[in-house]
Amino acid sequence: MEKEIRNKLIDTAIAQLQYSYTPYSNFKVGAALLAKNGQVYTGCNIENASFSATNCAERTAFFKAVYDGCYDFAAIAVVGGPAGKPVQAQDEPSGPCGVCRQVMQEFCGPDFEIHMQKAGGGVFTVKLPELLPFGFTKDSMEA
Ligand code: THU
Repeated sequence: MEKEIRNKLIDTAIAQLQYSYTPYSNFKVGAALLAKNGQVYTGCNIENASFSATNCAERTAFFKAVYDGCYDFAAIAVVGGPAGKPVQAQDEPSGPCGVCRQVMQEFCGPDFEIHMQKAGGGVFTVKLPELLPFGFTKDSMEA
C-alpha cells in the first residue's frame, strides 16, 4: 500500500483515541479499517466493569463494517497504548489480541495488512498470516 494512504489511515486511527472508553485500564486504542471499496470504518476500545465484555478497537471497526454490509478489506491501522501512547520501551508495537486476529481471519485474506504505530512515530506493518499462522477458517470445517 502507498505510504500516503497508510499514513492517512494511521492519522484516522489516532483521531479515534478520543472516543476510547477505558475507565479500567486507561489503555486507549484507535483503529481505522480500510475496505477494498475505499470506505474507512473507525473504531475504539470500549471497556466494561465485567472485563470480558470489553470490545477492542479493531473489532469495533470490523463489526461496524459488517453491519454496514461490507465484507472486503484491504488494511487496518491500529494505534495507542497506555493513555493512548505507544509503549516506549518496545521497538515493536503491541499487536492486536488473539480474538481480534481471529475476527480478521474470518473476513480477510492473506494480503490483508495490519499497520501498527510504533513509539517514536514509525509504523510496523505485517500481513495477516504473520499475525495468525495456520488460522482457523470456515474452510477448516469442511468435510
Ligand atoms: N485492546 C484493544 O483495543 N486492541 C488491542 O489490539 C489490544 C487491546 C484494548 C482492550 C482493553 O480495553 C485494553 O486495550 C487493555 O487490554
